[in-house]
Amino acid sequence: MQSAQALRSGFYTLALIKGWEQLKEVSQKPYPAMSALLLSPPPAGVVRAVLPSLEHLLMEDFESVYEPSDDTFLLCDALEGDRSYFSSRSEKLDVVLEIGSGSGCVIVFLAKLLREEGLLLDSTTLRLIATDVNPLAASVTLRTARANNVPMLEVVQTRLVNGLLDALAGKVDVLLFNPPYVPTDNEEVGGTGIAASWAGGEHGRVVIDEFLPLLPVLLSAPSGRCYLVLVEENKPREIMRTLLEAGLQGEIVLIRQASNEKLQIMRITRCVVQEAD
Ligand SMILES: C[S@@+](CC[C@H](N)C(=O)[O-])C[C@H]1O[C@@H](n2cnc3c(N)ncnc32)[C@H](O)[C@@H]1O
Repeated sequence: MQSAQALRSGFYTLALIKGWEQLKEVSQKPYPAMSALLLSPPPAGVVRAVLPSLEHLLMEDFESVYEPSDDTFLLCDALEGDRSYFSSRSEKLDVVLEIGSGSGCVIVFLAKLLREEGLLLDSTTLRLIATDVNPLAASVTLRTARANNVPMLEVVQTRLVNGLLDALAGKVDVLLFNPPYVPTDNEEVGGTGIAASWAGGEHGRVVIDEFLPLLPVLLSAPSGRCYLVLVEENKPREIMRTLLEAGLQGEIVLIRQASNEKLQIMRITRCVVQEAD
């Protein structure tokens, strides 16, 4: 994720390539017109998990909603990396929740993965829920779910889980959050537009620090887990110490350098309590 000042998305990259006049024309076109220009094919022999189709979106959608980027794909990779965990889970999943779903790419990716593993049937009692503070992101998430045959996804426009906490307390088996993590002035935090995608305030921690105390409340016991995107500036080790005080443990399961960002995925679970003999 790049901050407002930097080249945030392929949209702007494309602007540099094509010039603003041509960009006006491109912005009316479907999303793949851009992704085809920007994405290179995977190396021969590498199987890439199938990401949701975003063909229903226009480039202009990404003027107001976060465009899937390196952080999005790293989060999807972490979920793919834990595929065997999901498939081997003997207890049924009750709730899968993504906070800050943006385009819906990640929650729909996980829904597809769970369906492939036989955990998401049409008759399922599993609740798939996405929230986003940005109303346009909430509506784009819904469109992505429908376009990818995930009609059971419930989408709520709210800040974090405001209004949902009582209903979800202790029930969330998988929680996903790619938060606004870019260090910015604190005044930039708290909006509901595109800047909410990246503006993280001091150390990029303002929204993250609001989120962390919700974790012990939301996660199911014993095996609820959260996948949280962070960068080095967020001080992951300090976050781990904070989590420990709340009976949770964080582990960095993936790291990827993406231009100036050292992206990482922290997987958070409840601490295992050892029984005394
Ligand atoms: C970095 S984007 C991630 C979008 C998407 N999950 C992805 O990985 O591509 C962060 C998302 O969180 C949303 N967001 C920011 N602050 C939020 C908050 N307090 N509550 C809910 N959503 C928030 C933003 O609107 C944005 O859609």
